[in-house]
Amino acid sequence: EAEPQVETELDLEVGEVELISEGTLTVCSDVPYPPFEYYDADGAVVGFDIDIAEGIAEVLDVELEVVQTSFEGIQSGVALNAASCDLAISGMTITEQRAGNMLFSEPYLDDNLGLLAASDAGIGSLEDIDDSITVGVQADTTGETYAEEQGYQIRSYPDSGLLIQGLESGQVEAAIGNISILGYQAGEHEGSEFVEEIDTGEQLGIAAQSDNQDLIDAVDEILAEMESGGFMAEAEDLWFGG
Ligand code: ARG
Repeated sequence: EAEPQVETELDLEVGEVELISEGTLTVCSDVPYPPFEYYDADGAVVGFDIDIAEGIAEVLDVELEVVQTSFEGIQSGVALNAASCDLAISGMTITEQRAGNMLFSEPYLDDNLGLLAASDAGIGSLEDIDDSITVGVQADTTGETYAEEQGYQIRSYPDSGLLIQGLESGQVEAAIGNISILGYQAGEHEGSEFVEEIDTGEQLGIAAQSDNQDLIDAVDEILAEMESGGFMAEAEDLWFGG
């Protein structure tokens, strides 16, 4: 595992919490979802979420273990409820439906959706999406829900890496996903461009098992310290600062 990249100290103590494996904070995350969670050149999992997870583990005085988990399993609460992990940190939007199956922390980041299109697809805005356009989305995400609601022709990919490959290879002409990731990926890849932001007003949260209120309370205390002490600002700058 890579070293945490954020240097701001977290000066805080929290009460005892119950973890599925003593001495370890086990975190489910759907990798790759850069810059939230992805594998670096050495195969270590890194990113914005991973730094936050490292910070939480540090305050709890335990080791961090990141478990690659399908987003389907994360957002449905199945991974948490099967006790595969203590927390899910996966750029996950807080929704009412999901909140029925897990406990959410306070929001740690605001997000919106965005439209990305192949540069040669002639898509200048959402208005240009008609039945001749297939829109790629990641399965079980807010992007998929939005595209379904609009009645778009969609193709769902199990992870966001495959979604971007689908766009690059011409399987789909456009992609809808969170702006925090699409902006980043449009910058990284030739042949596709960021078209438009879709104001969904999403807020991302960290989730725990429905019965682990102590843990989510501790997470909220740690997030508050991260906000007030500069940790969050440093992490945002590091991973989203460009
Ligand atoms: N924010 C979106 C959602 O919650 C997408 C999150 C996808 N995260 C991931 N690690 N693949 O539906």
